[in-house]
Formats: sequence, structure tokens, C-alpha cells
Amino acid sequence: MIKDKVIIITGASSGIGEAAAKLLASKGAKVVLGARRTDKLEQIVDEIQKSGGEAIYQELDVTKQSENDAIVNLAKEKFGRVDVIFLNAGLMPSSPVSALKTDEWHRMVDVNIKGVLNGVAAVLPVFIAQKSGHVIATSSVAGLKPYPNGAVYGGTKWFVRDFMEVLRMESAMEKTNIRTATIYPAAINTELLGTITDKGAAASMKETYDTYGISPDRIASVVAFAIDQPDDTTISEFTVGPANQPW
Ligand SMILES: NC(=O)c1ccc[n+]([C@@H]2O[C@H](COP(=O)([O-])OP(=O)(O)OC[C@H]3O[C@@H](n4cnc5c(N)ncnc54)[C@H](OP(=O)(O)O)[C@@H]3O)[C@@H](O)[C@H]2O)c1
Repeated sequence: MIKDKVIIITGASSGIGEAAAKLLASKGAKVVLGARRTDKLEQIVDEIQKSGGEAIYQELDVTKQSENDAIVNLAKEKFGRVDVIFLNAGLMPSSPVSALKTDEWHRMVDVNIKGVLNGVAAVLPVFIAQKSGHVIATSSVAGLKPYPNGAVYGGTKWFVRDFMEVLRMESAMEKTNIRTATIYPAAINTELLGTITDKGAAASMKETYDTYGISPDRIASVVAFAIDQPDDTTISEFTVGPANQPW
């Protein structure tokens, strides 16, 4: 059931997070949106409310533990509980290792790995106390298959895969009824390529996305499907991409 669930979404100001927010709100969820661009969040919340949905937002930089804690507290204060956290914030400044774009490596580790850890650290005490909860994370096909220009990005997404599977196993062992779902999207048309500064990587990614890219609505439906399963059922992994994308 999606109706009335309280769902926090990180990276909700564009792309997959925005699409998930709109779809889940249209199905009766109470969505709590976080990202750094509050002007975008305000617009999305306004749109959701105008179509009869329930949504609030708060500025969130996932690299800061205190801001992750604050958005979980906001959800509890406004809606009384938290049922789902969709850990989706991420960036993909792809480049060859030899370009030594070390600032970008560190930024990916901070947002794509530590951002996920911070979100889990913020919400897990609530889920454990409730004895229920659902952690959903956006990994990537880059977390399943290595490819040139994706050494660090792929590494961050492999981390998410490993972490989420261990979280699933431990939650089952601890009988906290916490479900997990990890999503591995391929080429999805969003703002993701905007952070690529390496010219060669940017050109080859653009070609792939121009050729194959599909709408972020496709990922939103998978998120909704995972949440809609009965409470005793976990679908832990989804690989989702364009039907015609070979890799
Ligand atoms: N598009 C694809 O083909 C694809 C494929 C596989 C995986 N993914 C993954 O999907 C997720 C969503 O990306 P997208 O494709 O929807 O791209 P996007 O449109 O660029 O969205 C990325 C989101 O992350 C947020 N974000 C970035 N840094 C943040 C920070 N420090 N704190 C909080 N939020 C932050 C951005 O918001 P602000 O800038 O407003 O903070 C934005 O809302 C990412 O984890 C990405 O790695 C995407």
C-alpha cells in the first residue's frame, strides 16, 4: 500500500527523485522532499499540492548528518512517522582515472556513499523503534558492470549494492521488519550528465543518452511497485533501463 505512507526522498529537486515524488503523491503518499535547490523543491511541492497531493520540503545537503537528521524529524513532526526513505541523491562526474579529477572523486564519495550512510543513520532508529520501515536506494548499472570513465562513480554505486544487501540481511536477522530495495538504472534522461567536466566522457555519455535514454517516470514506477508490495515481502533489486540499450 502506498496511500498514507510517509516517504522521504533525497535528491528530489530533479530527475528520478522529482518523478518519484510526483507519482507517489498522486497515489496518496505524504512525501517529504529534500535537496539543495529549494526553489525547485518549492515548485514541485506547489505542483503536487495543486493536484490534491500532500508534500513538504526542506533544504538538505546529504553530506551533512545534521541535515539528514533534520528532515527525518520534520517528517515525524508533520506526519507522525516515517515509512520509507528513498536515498536517491547522487552525482556522476565521469572521467578517466588518468585525468586525476580528485576533487570530483571525493565529491562522489561524499554524496553517493556518505550521503546514503547519513540517511540510513538518521532514519534507522525510527524504523527500529516502529519495527517497520523501507529503505530504497538508487545505485546504477555502473554498480553492476565496470566501464571506462566510471571507476569512481561505479565504485560508489558498488558500495550501495553491498551495503543495502547487508542491511537487508541484518534487518531480517534482527526481525525489525525493515525492507530494502536497490535500483540499478541504466540511461535515464535527467540532469545527471550536467556534472561531467571531462570533455571526452561528456561526449560519449551524451551520445549514449541521446541514443537510448528513457524517462525518469520509468524508475518512479519501480519505486512505487517496491513500496506497494505487502509488508512481509521484499523485492531487493531492480535493474531497469531502455529496452534497446545493450550495455
Ligand atoms: N540518470 C541516469 O541515467 C542514472 C542511472 C543510474 C543511476 N542514477 C542515479 O540516480 C540518482 C538520481 O539522479 P538523476 O539521474 O535523477 O539526476 P539529477 O536530475 O541530476 O538528480 C540528482 C539529484 O541529487 C541531488 N543532489 C546532488 N547532490 C546533493 C547533495 N549534496 N545533497 C542533496 N541532494 C543532492 C540534486 O539536487 P540538488 O542539486 O538540488 O541538491 C538532484 O535532486 C543518482 O544517485 C544517480 O547516480 C541515474
